[in-house]
Amino acid sequence: MTAAAPAPRGAEAARRVLERCDELARHSSMPDGIERVYLSPEHARVNDIAAAWMREAGLHSWSDPAGNQCGRRSSDPAGRPALLLGSHLDTVPGAGRYDGILGVLVAIEVADRLRETELPFALEVVAVADEEGTRFGTTLLGSRALAGSWREEWQELTDAHGTTLRRAALDFDLDPDRIASAAREPGSLVGYLEAHIEQGPRLEEADRALGVVTSIAAAERRLLTFRGQARHGATPWHLRRDALQGAAEAVLAMERLARESGSVATIGHVRVEPDAVNVVPGLAEFSLDLRDETAAGRDAAWGRIQHELQAIGLQRGLDLDVVSTHEAPEVVCAPELRDAIAAGIAATGDAEPPALFSIAGHDAMAVAAITEVGMLFVRCAGGISHHRDEAVRADDVALAIDAMEAAVLELAARRADGAGDTRPSSAIGA
Ligand code: GLV
Ligand code: MN
Ligand code: MN
Repeated sequence: MTAAAPAPRGAEAARRVLERCDELARHSSMPDGIERVYLSPEHARVNDIAAAWMREAGLHSWSDPAGNQCGRRSSDPAGRPALLLGSHLDTVPGAGRYDGILGVLVAIEVADRLRETELPFALEVVAVADEEGTRFGTTLLGSRALAGSWREEWQELTDAHGTTLRRAALDFDLDPDRIASAAREPGSLVGYLEAHIEQGPRLEEADRALGVVTSIAAAERRLLTFRGQARHGATPWHLRRDALQGAAEAVLAMERLARESGSVATIGHVRVEPDAVNVVPGLAEFSLDLRDETAAGRDAAWGRIQHELQAIGLQRGLDLDVVSTHEAPEVVCAPELRDAIAAGIAATGDAEPPALFSIAGHDAMAVAAITEVGMLFVRCAGGISHHRDEAVRADDVALAIDAMEAAVLELAARRADGAGDTRPSSAIGA
Protein backbone atom coordinates (compact mmCIF):
# COMPACT_ATOMS: atom_id res chain seq x y z
CA MET A 1 0.00 0.00 0.00
CA THR A 2 1.28 3.48 -0.77
CA ALA A 3 -0.87 5.27 1.82
CA ALA A 4 -2.15 4.37 5.27
CA ALA A 5 -5.19 2.31 4.37
CA PRO A 6 -8.53 2.55 6.15
CA ALA A 7 -9.53 -0.79 7.64
CA PRO A 8 -11.49 -2.72 5.00
CA ARG A 9 -15.22 -2.83 5.71
CA GLY A 10 -15.38 -6.19 4.09
CA ALA A 11 -13.80 -8.49 6.69
CA GLU A 12 -17.01 -10.38 7.34
CA ALA A 13 -17.94 -10.41 3.66
CA ALA A 14 -14.45 -11.69 2.83
CA ARG A 15 -14.82 -14.51 5.32
CA ARG A 16 -18.15 -15.43 3.71
CA VAL A 17 -16.62 -15.30 0.22
CA LEU A 18 -13.74 -17.58 1.25
CA GLU A 19 -16.13 -20.03 2.92
CA ARG A 20 -18.22 -20.05 -0.24
CA CYS A 21 -15.12 -20.71 -2.35
CA ASP A 22 -14.46 -23.71 -0.10
CA GLU A 23 -18.06 -24.87 -0.50
CA LEU A 24 -17.99 -24.67 -4.31
CA ALA A 25 -14.65 -26.51 -4.33
CA ARG A 26 -16.47 -29.57 -3.01
CA HIS A 27 -18.43 -29.84 -6.27
CA SER A 28 -15.88 -31.56 -8.43
CA SER A 29 -15.65 -34.47 -10.83
CA MET A 30 -12.17 -35.34 -9.43
CA PRO A 31 -12.04 -37.32 -6.19
CA ASP A 32 -8.81 -35.66 -5.05
CA GLY A 33 -8.92 -32.25 -6.69
CA ILE A 34 -11.14 -29.67 -8.33
CA GLU A 35 -12.51 -30.06 -11.82
CA ARG A 36 -15.82 -28.59 -12.92
CA VAL A 37 -16.48 -28.44 -16.62
CA TYR A 38 -19.22 -26.98 -18.76
CA LEU A 39 -22.61 -28.74 -18.69
CA SER A 40 -21.52 -31.29 -16.09
CA PRO A 41 -23.57 -32.34 -13.04
CA GLU A 42 -21.14 -30.27 -10.91
CA HIS A 43 -21.86 -27.26 -13.09
CA ALA A 44 -25.59 -27.72 -12.44
CA ARG A 45 -25.01 -27.97 -8.69
CA VAL A 46 -22.87 -24.84 -8.39
CA ASN A 47 -25.34 -22.91 -10.52
CA ASP A 48 -28.11 -23.82 -8.07
CA ILE A 49 -25.97 -22.79 -5.12
CA ALA A 50 -24.97 -19.51 -6.77
CA ALA A 51 -28.64 -18.85 -7.58
CA ALA A 52 -29.52 -19.23 -3.89
CA TRP A 53 -26.72 -16.83 -2.89
CA MET A 54 -27.88 -14.35 -5.54
CA ARG A 55 -31.41 -14.49 -4.16
CA GLU A 56 -30.09 -13.90 -0.63
CA ALA A 57 -28.34 -10.82 -2.03
CA GLY A 58 -31.63 -9.39 -3.30
CA LEU A 59 -31.26 -10.54 -6.93
CA HIS A 60 -33.69 -12.60 -8.88
CA SER A 61 -31.81 -15.36 -10.62
CA TRP A 62 -32.17 -17.41 -13.77
CA SER A 63 -30.08 -19.72 -15.93
CA ASP A 64 -29.75 -18.30 -19.44
CA PRO A 65 -29.98 -20.54 -22.54
CA ALA A 66 -26.21 -21.20 -22.41
CA GLY A 67 -26.22 -22.25 -18.73
CA ASN A 68 -24.83 -18.97 -17.39
CA GLN A 69 -26.39 -18.28 -14.00
CA CYS A 70 -27.57 -14.69 -13.95
CA GLY A 71 -28.99 -12.37 -11.32
CA ARG A 72 -30.55 -8.90 -11.42
CA ARG A 73 -31.62 -6.61 -8.62
CA SER A 74 -35.30 -7.21 -8.09
CA SER A 75 -35.87 -3.46 -7.72
CA ASP A 76 -34.41 -2.59 -11.15
CA PRO A 77 -37.06 -1.86 -13.77
CA ALA A 78 -37.23 -4.26 -16.72
CA GLY A 79 -35.49 -2.87 -19.77
CA ARG A 80 -33.10 -0.56 -17.90
CA PRO A 81 -29.57 -1.11 -19.25
CA ALA A 82 -27.44 -2.94 -16.69
CA LEU A 83 -23.94 -2.83 -15.35
CA LEU A 84 -22.87 -6.49 -15.32
CA LEU A 85 -20.50 -7.84 -12.66
CA GLY A 86 -19.15 -11.36 -12.83
CA SER A 87 -16.67 -14.05 -13.74
CA HIS A 88 -16.83 -17.83 -14.19
CA LEU A 89 -17.55 -20.95 -12.10
CA ASP A 90 -15.99 -23.59 -14.39
CA THR A 91 -12.47 -24.83 -13.74
CA VAL A 92 -9.51 -26.59 -15.32
CA PRO A 93 -8.59 -30.08 -14.03
CA GLY A 94 -6.66 -29.91 -10.75
CA ALA A 95 -7.78 -26.31 -10.30
CA GLY A 96 -7.55 -23.95 -7.38
CA ARG A 97 -10.65 -22.58 -5.71
CA TYR A 98 -10.44 -18.90 -6.67
CA ASP A 99 -9.88 -18.61 -10.44
CA GLY A 100 -13.17 -17.14 -11.65
CA ILE A 101 -15.08 -18.17 -8.55
CA LEU A 102 -13.72 -15.27 -6.49
CA GLY A 103 -15.00 -12.76 -9.06
CA VAL A 104 -18.51 -14.22 -9.01
CA LEU A 105 -18.65 -14.17 -5.22
CA VAL A 106 -17.25 -10.63 -4.98
CA ALA A 107 -19.94 -9.57 -7.47
CA ILE A 108 -22.67 -11.11 -5.30
CA GLU A 109 -21.33 -9.30 -2.21
CA VAL A 110 -21.30 -5.99 -4.06
CA ALA A 111 -24.87 -6.52 -5.28
CA ASP A 112 -25.89 -7.34 -1.71
CA ARG A 113 -24.34 -4.12 -0.40
CA LEU A 114 -25.99 -2.05 -3.12
CA ARG A 115 -29.40 -3.67 -2.93
CA GLU A 116 -31.06 -0.43 -1.66
CA THR A 117 -28.83 2.03 -3.52
CA GLU A 118 -30.28 4.17 -6.32
CA LEU A 119 -28.11 3.74 -9.39
CA PRO A 120 -28.50 5.21 -12.89
CA PHE A 121 -28.30 1.69 -14.31
CA ALA A 122 -29.60 -1.74 -13.37
CA LEU A 123 -27.16 -4.04 -11.59
CA GLU A 124 -26.66 -7.62 -12.70
CA VAL A 125 -24.35 -10.48 -11.76
CA VAL A 126 -23.30 -13.34 -14.00
CA ALA A 127 -21.69 -16.66 -13.09
CA VAL A 128 -20.34 -17.66 -16.49
CA ALA A 129 -20.70 -21.32 -17.40
CA ASP A 130 -17.57 -21.84 -19.49
CA GLU A 131 -14.48 -19.69 -19.58
CA GLU A 132 -11.75 -22.32 -19.49
CA GLY A 133 -12.90 -24.36 -22.47
CA THR A 134 -11.52 -27.48 -20.84
CA ARG A 135 -14.32 -29.86 -21.82
CA PHE A 136 -14.91 -29.04 -25.48
CA GLY A 137 -11.51 -27.58 -26.39
CA THR A 138 -12.99 -24.20 -27.31
CA THR A 139 -12.82 -21.52 -24.72
CA LEU A 140 -15.18 -18.78 -23.42
CA LEU A 141 -18.29 -20.66 -24.55
CA GLY A 142 -20.55 -19.16 -21.86
CA SER A 143 -19.36 -15.59 -22.21
CA ARG A 144 -19.34 -15.77 -26.00
CA ALA A 145 -22.96 -16.94 -25.98
CA LEU A 146 -23.84 -14.03 -23.72
CA ALA A 147 -21.97 -11.63 -25.99
CA GLY A 148 -23.71 -12.83 -29.15
CA SER A 149 -20.69 -14.63 -30.61
CA TRP A 150 -22.03 -18.18 -30.30
CA ARG A 151 -21.39 -20.33 -33.36
CA GLU A 152 -23.88 -23.06 -34.18
CA GLU A 153 -21.10 -25.42 -35.26
CA TRP A 154 -19.96 -25.60 -31.62
CA GLN A 155 -22.90 -27.92 -30.99
CA GLU A 156 -20.84 -30.60 -32.71
CA LEU A 157 -17.74 -30.18 -30.53
CA THR A 158 -16.99 -33.36 -28.62
CA ASP A 159 -15.42 -33.97 -25.23
CA ALA A 160 -12.79 -36.60 -24.40
CA HIS A 161 -15.52 -39.25 -24.11
CA GLY A 162 -17.02 -38.46 -27.52
CA THR A 163 -20.05 -36.66 -26.03
CA THR A 164 -21.16 -33.80 -28.23
CA LEU A 165 -21.89 -30.41 -26.77
CA ARG A 166 -25.39 -30.85 -28.22
CA ARG A 167 -25.92 -34.04 -26.16
CA ALA A 168 -24.41 -32.45 -23.04
CA ALA A 169 -26.71 -29.43 -23.39
CA LEU A 170 -29.76 -31.70 -23.65
CA ASP A 171 -28.63 -33.62 -20.55
CA PHE A 172 -28.29 -30.25 -18.77
CA ASP A 173 -31.89 -29.42 -19.76
CA LEU A 174 -30.79 -26.77 -22.23
CA ASP A 175 -32.06 -26.55 -25.79
CA PRO A 176 -28.89 -26.67 -27.92
CA ASP A 177 -30.67 -24.88 -30.75
CA ARG A 178 -31.43 -21.95 -28.44
CA ILE A 179 -27.99 -21.38 -26.89
CA ALA A 180 -27.42 -18.42 -29.21
CA SER A 181 -30.46 -16.73 -27.68
CA ALA A 182 -28.39 -16.14 -24.51
CA ALA A 183 -27.05 -13.13 -26.44
CA ARG A 184 -27.73 -9.86 -24.67
CA GLU A 185 -29.37 -7.15 -26.76
CA PRO A 186 -26.94 -4.47 -27.90
CA GLY A 187 -27.56 -1.51 -25.61
CA SER A 188 -28.85 -3.66 -22.76
CA LEU A 189 -25.53 -3.37 -20.94
CA VAL A 190 -23.68 -0.24 -19.83
CA GLY A 191 -20.48 -2.12 -19.04
CA TYR A 192 -18.93 -5.22 -17.48
CA LEU A 193 -16.64 -5.34 -14.44
CA GLU A 194 -14.75 -8.45 -13.39
CA ALA A 195 -12.63 -9.08 -10.32
CA HIS A 196 -10.12 -11.92 -10.75
CA ILE A 197 -7.02 -13.24 -9.08
CA GLU A 198 -3.95 -12.02 -10.95
CA GLN A 199 -2.61 -15.49 -11.81
CA GLY A 200 0.85 -13.95 -11.90
CA PRO A 201 3.39 -12.60 -9.43
CA ARG A 202 3.43 -8.89 -10.22
CA LEU A 203 1.14 -7.58 -7.47
CA GLU A 204 2.86 -9.70 -4.88
CA GLU A 205 6.28 -8.54 -6.05
CA ALA A 206 5.08 -4.93 -5.84
CA ASP A 207 3.60 -5.59 -2.35
CA ARG A 208 0.15 -4.44 -3.49
CA ALA A 209 -3.22 -6.08 -2.86
CA LEU A 210 -5.11 -4.88 -5.95
CA GLY A 211 -4.39 -3.68 -9.46
CA VAL A 212 -6.19 -2.15 -12.42
CA VAL A 213 -6.12 -4.22 -15.61
CA THR A 214 -5.21 -2.23 -18.70
CA SER A 215 -5.72 -4.93 -21.34
CA ILE A 216 -5.97 -8.66 -21.83
CA ALA A 217 -3.35 -10.37 -23.96
CA ALA A 218 -4.00 -11.78 -27.42
CA ALA A 219 -4.16 -15.56 -27.42
CA GLU A 220 -4.34 -18.40 -29.89
CA ARG A 221 -4.66 -22.14 -29.44
CA ARG A 222 -3.79 -24.78 -32.00
CA LEU A 223 -3.91 -28.54 -32.18
CA LEU A 224 -0.81 -29.80 -33.97
CA THR A 225 -0.30 -33.31 -35.31
CA PHE A 226 2.83 -34.92 -36.67
CA ARG A 227 2.20 -38.09 -38.68
CA GLY A 228 5.05 -40.48 -39.35
CA GLN A 229 4.98 -44.28 -39.37
CA ALA A 230 4.27 -46.69 -36.51
CA ARG A 231 6.80 -49.54 -36.62
CA HIS A 232 8.42 -52.17 -34.46
CA GLY A 233 10.67 -50.85 -31.68
CA ALA A 234 13.53 -52.79 -33.29
CA THR A 235 13.46 -50.57 -36.40
CA PRO A 236 16.91 -49.08 -37.13
CA TRP A 237 17.27 -45.31 -36.75
CA HIS A 238 17.53 -44.51 -40.42
CA LEU A 239 14.15 -46.18 -41.17
CA ARG A 240 12.19 -44.44 -38.46
CA ARG A 241 9.67 -41.64 -38.96
CA ASP A 242 8.99 -41.12 -35.26
CA ALA A 243 6.21 -38.59 -34.70
CA LEU A 244 6.96 -38.17 -30.98
CA GLN A 245 10.63 -37.37 -31.54
CA GLY A 246 9.45 -34.68 -33.94
CA ALA A 247 6.97 -33.37 -31.36
CA ALA A 248 9.68 -33.36 -28.67
CA GLU A 249 11.95 -31.28 -30.87
CA ALA A 250 9.01 -29.01 -31.69
CA VAL A 251 8.16 -28.47 -28.00
CA LEU A 252 11.65 -27.18 -27.23
CA ALA A 253 11.73 -25.09 -30.41
CA MET A 254 8.41 -23.48 -29.45
CA GLU A 255 9.76 -22.61 -26.02
CA ARG A 256 12.88 -21.03 -27.50
CA LEU A 257 11.06 -19.07 -30.21
CA ALA A 258 8.31 -17.82 -27.90
CA ARG A 259 10.92 -16.68 -25.36
CA GLU A 260 12.87 -14.87 -28.05
CA SER A 261 9.66 -13.21 -29.26
CA GLY A 262 8.60 -12.05 -25.78
CA SER A 263 5.50 -14.29 -25.96
CA VAL A 264 4.49 -17.20 -23.74
CA ALA A 265 3.80 -20.67 -25.14
CA THR A 266 2.27 -23.65 -23.32
CA ILE A 267 2.17 -27.17 -24.68
CA GLY A 268 -0.21 -28.70 -22.18
CA HIS A 269 -1.53 -31.67 -24.12
CA VAL A 270 0.33 -34.51 -25.82
CA ARG A 271 -1.12 -37.75 -27.19
CA VAL A 272 0.62 -40.46 -29.15
CA GLU A 273 -0.58 -43.39 -31.21
CA PRO A 274 -0.45 -46.27 -30.90
CA ASP A 275 0.80 -45.53 -27.35
CA ALA A 276 2.70 -48.77 -26.76
CA VAL A 277 6.18 -49.19 -25.26
CA ASN A 278 7.64 -51.21 -28.13
CA VAL A 279 6.11 -49.34 -31.06
CA VAL A 280 7.64 -46.26 -32.68
CA PRO A 281 4.91 -43.58 -32.34
CA GLY A 282 3.29 -43.04 -35.72
CA LEU A 283 1.25 -40.05 -34.59
CA ALA A 284 1.88 -37.33 -32.05
CA GLU A 285 -0.80 -34.76 -31.30
CA PHE A 286 0.07 -31.76 -29.16
CA SER A 287 -1.45 -28.40 -28.33
CA LEU A 288 -0.02 -24.91 -28.46
CA ASP A 289 -1.43 -22.04 -26.39
CA LEU A 290 0.40 -18.90 -27.50
CA ARG A 291 -0.06 -15.48 -25.88
CA ASP A 292 1.38 -12.04 -26.35
CA GLU A 293 0.41 -8.53 -25.28
CA THR A 294 -0.73 -7.86 -28.85
CA ALA A 295 -2.09 -9.92 -31.73
CA ALA A 296 0.72 -8.57 -33.91
CA GLY A 297 3.34 -9.92 -31.47
CA ARG A 298 1.53 -13.24 -31.20
CA ASP A 299 1.29 -13.60 -34.97
CA ALA A 300 4.95 -12.78 -35.43
CA ALA A 301 5.86 -15.51 -32.91
CA TRP A 302 3.55 -18.00 -34.64
CA GLY A 303 5.15 -17.19 -38.01
CA ARG A 304 8.56 -18.19 -36.66
CA ILE A 305 7.16 -21.28 -34.92
CA GLN A 306 5.30 -22.46 -38.02
CA HIS A 307 8.46 -22.16 -40.09
CA GLU A 308 10.38 -24.25 -37.56
CA LEU A 309 7.66 -26.93 -37.33
CA GLN A 310 7.70 -27.34 -41.09
CA ALA A 311 11.49 -27.67 -41.05
CA ILE A 312 11.30 -30.35 -38.34
CA GLY A 313 8.66 -32.26 -40.30
CA LEU A 314 10.69 -32.11 -43.49
CA GLN A 315 13.86 -33.25 -41.82
CA ARG A 316 12.14 -36.18 -40.03
CA GLY A 317 9.77 -37.26 -42.80
CA LEU A 318 6.64 -36.23 -40.88
CA ASP A 319 3.44 -34.66 -42.16
CA LEU A 320 2.14 -31.76 -40.14
CA ASP A 321 -1.52 -30.83 -39.55
CA VAL A 322 -2.45 -27.58 -37.83
CA VAL A 323 -5.97 -26.88 -36.58
CA SER A 324 -6.78 -23.54 -34.97
CA THR A 325 -9.06 -24.04 -31.94
CA HIS A 326 -9.15 -20.55 -30.43
CA GLU A 327 -8.21 -17.06 -31.49
CA ALA A 328 -8.65 -13.89 -29.48
CA PRO A 329 -7.15 -10.49 -30.17
CA GLU A 330 -5.98 -8.33 -27.31
CA VAL A 331 -8.80 -6.51 -25.54
CA VAL A 332 -8.23 -3.06 -24.13
CA CYS A 333 -10.12 -2.17 -20.96
CA ALA A 334 -12.25 0.95 -21.39
CA PRO A 335 -10.56 4.10 -19.98
CA GLU A 336 -13.71 5.09 -18.06
CA LEU A 337 -13.99 1.67 -16.41
CA ARG A 338 -10.25 1.64 -15.67
CA ASP A 339 -10.64 5.02 -14.01
CA ALA A 340 -13.64 3.79 -12.02
CA ILE A 341 -11.69 0.76 -10.81
CA ALA A 342 -8.65 2.90 -9.98
CA ALA A 343 -10.96 5.23 -7.99
CA GLY A 344 -12.48 2.20 -6.29
CA ILE A 345 -9.07 0.94 -5.24
CA ALA A 346 -8.03 4.45 -4.19
CA ALA A 347 -11.06 4.50 -1.87
CA THR A 348 -9.51 1.52 -0.07
CA GLY A 349 -6.31 3.48 0.57
CA ASP A 350 -4.02 2.80 -2.40
CA ALA A 351 -4.07 6.19 -4.12
CA GLU A 352 -2.09 5.07 -7.16
CA PRO A 353 -2.88 1.44 -7.77
CA PRO A 354 -0.65 -0.47 -10.16
CA ALA A 355 -1.88 -0.87 -13.73
CA LEU A 356 -1.03 -4.16 -15.41
CA PHE A 357 -2.04 -6.14 -18.47
CA SER A 358 -3.41 -9.64 -18.14
CA ILE A 359 -1.60 -12.53 -19.75
CA ALA A 360 -4.40 -14.90 -18.74
CA GLY A 361 -7.66 -14.92 -20.66
CA HIS A 362 -10.92 -13.83 -19.05
CA ASP A 363 -14.65 -13.65 -19.75
CA ALA A 364 -14.16 -9.91 -20.21
CA MET A 365 -12.45 -10.71 -23.54
CA ALA A 366 -15.67 -12.17 -24.89
CA VAL A 367 -18.02 -9.69 -23.23
CA ALA A 368 -16.02 -6.86 -24.87
CA ALA A 369 -17.80 -7.73 -28.11
CA ILE A 370 -21.01 -6.27 -26.69
CA THR A 371 -20.03 -3.68 -24.07
CA GLU A 372 -17.05 -1.96 -22.51
CA VAL A 373 -15.11 -3.96 -19.95
CA GLY A 374 -12.99 -3.26 -16.90
CA MET A 375 -11.09 -5.62 -14.58
CA LEU A 376 -9.67 -5.54 -11.10
CA PHE A 377 -6.85 -7.92 -10.16
CA VAL A 378 -6.40 -9.39 -6.70
CA ARG A 379 -2.97 -10.54 -5.52
CA CYS A 380 -2.54 -14.31 -5.32
CA ALA A 381 0.19 -16.20 -3.50
CA GLY A 382 3.29 -16.80 -5.59
CA GLY A 383 1.31 -16.01 -8.73
CA ILE A 384 0.16 -19.64 -8.65
CA SER A 385 -3.04 -20.52 -10.50
CA HIS A 386 -4.54 -23.50 -12.32
CA HIS A 387 -3.21 -25.47 -9.37
CA ARG A 388 -4.64 -26.60 -6.06
CA ASP A 389 -2.23 -24.29 -4.21
CA GLU A 390 -3.96 -21.17 -5.52
CA ALA A 391 -4.31 -18.87 -2.48
CA VAL A 392 -5.54 -15.40 -1.64
CA ARG A 393 -5.39 -13.38 1.57
CA ALA A 394 -8.63 -12.63 3.40
CA ASP A 395 -7.64 -8.98 3.84
CA ASP A 396 -7.05 -8.67 0.08
CA VAL A 397 -10.48 -10.13 -0.61
CA ALA A 398 -12.01 -7.64 1.81
CA LEU A 399 -10.27 -4.82 -0.05
CA ALA A 400 -11.45 -6.22 -3.39
CA ILE A 401 -15.08 -6.16 -2.26
CA ASP A 402 -14.71 -2.60 -0.97
CA ALA A 403 -12.94 -1.50 -4.15
CA MET A 404 -15.47 -3.10 -6.46
CA GLU A 405 -18.37 -1.51 -4.60
CA ALA A 406 -16.64 1.87 -4.74
CA ALA A 407 -15.94 1.38 -8.47
CA VAL A 408 -19.65 0.81 -9.13
CA LEU A 409 -20.52 3.93 -7.14
CA GLU A 410 -17.87 5.92 -9.00
CA LEU A 411 -19.31 4.79 -12.32
CA ALA A 412 -22.80 5.60 -11.08
CA ALA A 413 -21.69 9.13 -10.21
CA ARG A 414 -20.15 9.55 -13.65
CA ARG A 415 -23.26 8.26 -15.39
CA ALA A 416 -25.81 9.89 -13.10
CA ASP A 417 -26.77 12.50 -15.65
CA GLY A 418 -27.14 10.07 -18.57
CA ALA A 419 -29.25 7.03 -19.32
CA GLY A 420 -26.22 4.76 -19.52
CA ASP A 421 -23.33 4.57 -21.90
CA THR A 422 -23.91 2.22 -24.80
CA ARG A 423 -20.90 3.24 -26.82
CA PRO A 424 -19.49 0.42 -28.91
CA SER A 425 -16.86 -1.83 -27.42
CA SER A 426 -13.29 -0.62 -27.14
CA ALA A 427 -12.12 -4.17 -27.78
CA ILE A 428 -9.60 -4.20 -30.57
CA GLY A 429 -10.94 -6.41 -33.31
CA ALA A 430 -13.60 -7.95 -31.05
C1 GLV B 1 -7.85 -19.06 -18.70
O1 GLV B 1 -7.62 -19.27 -17.52
C2 GLV B 1 -6.76 -18.90 -19.60
O2 GLV B 1 -6.10 -17.86 -19.60
O3 GLV B 1 -6.45 -19.87 -20.31
MN1 MN C 1 -8.42 -20.24 -15.51
MN1 MN D 1 -10.36 -17.34 -14.82
